[in-house]
Amino acid sequence: MELSQVRALVTGGASGMGRTFARSLARDGAAVAFCDLDAAAVEAVEAEARAEGLELRGFVADVADEAQVVRLVDEAWAALGGLNLWINNAGLFRDGLLVRKGRDGEVHRLSLADWQRVIDVDLTGPFLCTREFAAKRIEAGGGPALVVNMASISRHGNQGQSNYSAAKAGLVADTRLWAQELARYGVRVVAIAPGFVNTPILAGMREDVLQAAVKRVPLGRVGEPEEIYRAVRFAVECDYLTGTCLDVDGGLRL
Ligand SMILES: NC(=O)c1ccc[n+]([C@@H]2O[C@H](COP(=O)([O-])OP(=O)(O)OC[C@H]3O[C@@H](n4cnc5c(N)ncnc54)[C@H](O)[C@@H]3O)[C@@H](O)[C@H]2O)c1
Repeated sequence: MELSQVRALVTGGASGMGRTFARSLARDGAAVAFCDLDAAAVEAVEAEARAEGLELRGFVADVADEAQVVRLVDEAWAALGGLNLWINNAGLFRDGLLVRKGRDGEVHRLSLADWQRVIDVDLTGPFLCTREFAAKRIEAGGGPALVVNMASISRHGNQGQSNYSAAKAGLVADTRLWAQELARYGVRVVAIAPGFVNTPILAGMREDVLQAAVKRVPLGRVGEPEEIYRAVRFAVECDYLTGTCLDVDGGLRL
């Protein structure tokens, strides 16, 4: 697809990579909307873009809530006059070992609440969004379109991330099968799996854990959101790419 023809929705667009994707797509000529959880954060990103001459349409929506996703797709579709790119970027983690023996001798368990919230946002969210986006595309008559799923190197299984690793592994599996199911309607589906990227999500990591992780990156540094955007742009522009996962991780292997 030509970027000038793109009408995009980026989930989790008020921070980190989502904010970069939304702004960079708009700068490259696409019409762009985004959603996030917090109205004030959404308005701040809209205002920041406006001040730079970019137009971003912000919506408040929780991607894990079915009714909110249905409404988001309808409203963003109406606002942009259609959508042909959907980026499932919203995500979070709630790390913890499955079980851990504390200094007090007590055995601590990863809570069901932490398991469930990550599965809800990082896996159920993309399921709901991709389903509604694809349904709307088909109802509108089809044509070229793309779903980008933000996965992670953690999909291979990263200690302390039972919930996150499962969600991202599931998302990459679904990338492959959605690509097969949706090709007949013109919808391509691509996953992008970053390693460590310089966004606020990393602030949630313990500094010593992060430093140890960066030491294992062959390129010796974390990635920048704009570098992950290059992969998004490649997925948009390469019409023969579907059903695959692009690792953009500085060479890191888990
Ligand atoms: N930063 C990294 O190192 C890294 C590495 C690999 C994968 N990822 C993935 O990339 C994506 C973006 O990460 P980031 O680092 O930019 O994170 P971030 O925390 O900076 O931004 C994520 C955004 O998603 C929003 N969000 C969270 N739950 C939501 C929900 N239910 N509905 C709508 N919005 C919601 C948050 O409010 C936030 O604005 C995530 O899917 C993350 O798992 C990040």
